[in-house]
Amino acid sequence: MFIRNCWYVAGWDQELAPGALLSIKIIDDPILVYRTDDGDLVAMEDRCCHRLAPLSLGRLEDGCNIRCMYHGLKFDPFGRCVEIPGQDTIPSTARVRTYPVVGKHSWIWVWMGDPSLADEALIPPAVGYDDPRYILRHGNIDYAANYQLINDNLTDFSHLSYVHANSFGSTELWARIRPLIKVIDRGIRVTRWVGPEDQALKPDAPATKRVPDITGPTALFSTYDYLVPGVLLMYSAIYRAQDMPEDRVSWPDAEPIAANFTSQALTPMSETETRYFFSWGPRSVEGTPEMADGMFKVAQMAFAEDKDMIEAQQRIINLKPGNEVLTTADVGPVQMRAVIRKMIKAENGDMAGAPDATPAVLDAVS
Ligand code: FES
Ligand SMILES: [Fe+2]
Repeated sequence: MFIRNCWYVAGWDQELAPGALLSIKIIDDPILVYRTDDGDLVAMEDRCCHRLAPLSLGRLEDGCNIRCMYHGLKFDPFGRCVEIPGQDTIPSTARVRTYPVVGKHSWIWVWMGDPSLADEALIPPAVGYDDPRYILRHGNIDYAANYQLINDNLTDFSHLSYVHANSFGSTELWARIRPLIKVIDRGIRVTRWVGPEDQALKPDAPATKRVPDITGPTALFSTYDYLVPGVLLMYSAIYRAQDMPEDRVSWPDAEPIAANFTSQALTPMSETETRYFFSWGPRSVEGTPEMADGMFKVAQMAFAEDKDMIEAQQRIINLKPGNEVLTTADVGPVQMRAVIRKMIKAENGDMAGAPDATPAVLDAVS
C-alpha cells in the first residue's frame, strides 16, 4: 500500500521541454506529464477514456492539448475531451483524471491523493541542481524492488561499512556509530558526528581525500531529513576536530572546511518497481566542477552497490518471506516505516496491507 496524499517526483523539471510527453507509473497509476507552450505543467492519467490507450503515445496540439493517437480524441489540460473525430456531441463522461503538479527544486512533483489537500508547502525543501550555493550533478536509476526496502537502506547507514567499503571508504568501525534519530513532521531526522578517533573512514576515503591541504584531525558531520514517501535531504561537512561539539549532536558554530548537499527521492512505481532520483555535489564556495564530477562518480558507484544488494534482498524475500530479527541499527527504518504506516492508516482507516512497524523493537532500543 502507498500514501496517496503526498507529493511524488515524476521527473526532472528543467529537462521536460514543451511538447515532450513524459510517461511514468506512480503508485500503480499511469501518469502523463507534459508542458504547454506557455510553460505550464500538466499531469493527467496516461489512459485515454475511449479505449484506454496511453495518451503518452499521443501528440501535443494547439500548444496545450493532447490528441490520443489511437482514434483521435483530443483532451484539454483539464482532462476534458474537446474533440471526437466524426462526432459532434461530446459526452460529459469523456474526460481523463488530472493531478495537481508543481515544478520545484528541479523536480516535477505530482500529488496523487485528494486534490483539495494538495498543499505546496508539503513539498520537501530539496535543493535544485541549479542552486548557486552548490555545484550539483544529478541522475536517476530504476530498482526492481519495493520502495520500503530502499527507505530502510537510506535510513540506516550502518550498511556503509559493508556495502560501500570500496566506494565511500567506510571502515567496519563506521557501523558501530549510532546516529541521533528524531521523528519530525512527515519523516525522521538523522544526525551523526564522526570524530577522528572513531576511525570510521579509511585514510584515503573520498570524504577526506576530496579536500586538499587539510592539516590536523578532522570530524565529519552529517544531518538529514527523511520525508515521505522517501525523500532524503542531507547536508554533510568536514570540520576541524576541535570544532566538534562535545555532545556530538549539535550543529557546530564553526565554519566547515568543506560541505556538500544531496537531495534524493524515491518514487514507488508499483509494489515491485521504484525510480530513484538524486543529485549531489560540493558547496560552490570551495567546490570545483572536477570535485563535483569526482563526488558524483563515487555516489553512482555507491548507488550501484546498494541496488545490487537491495534487488538481491527483494528476490530472496519473494522466494521465501519470513520474520526479521532487527537490531539497534534499525531504529531509523522502524521509525520511518511507522510514519508511513500511520499515514496509510489515516487515509484508509484500517491496517490491511500496511507495512509492519514492529513497535516492540522501538521499545527495546529507545
Ligand atoms: S483509445 Fe484514445 S481515441 Fe481511442
Ligand atoms: Fe547505501
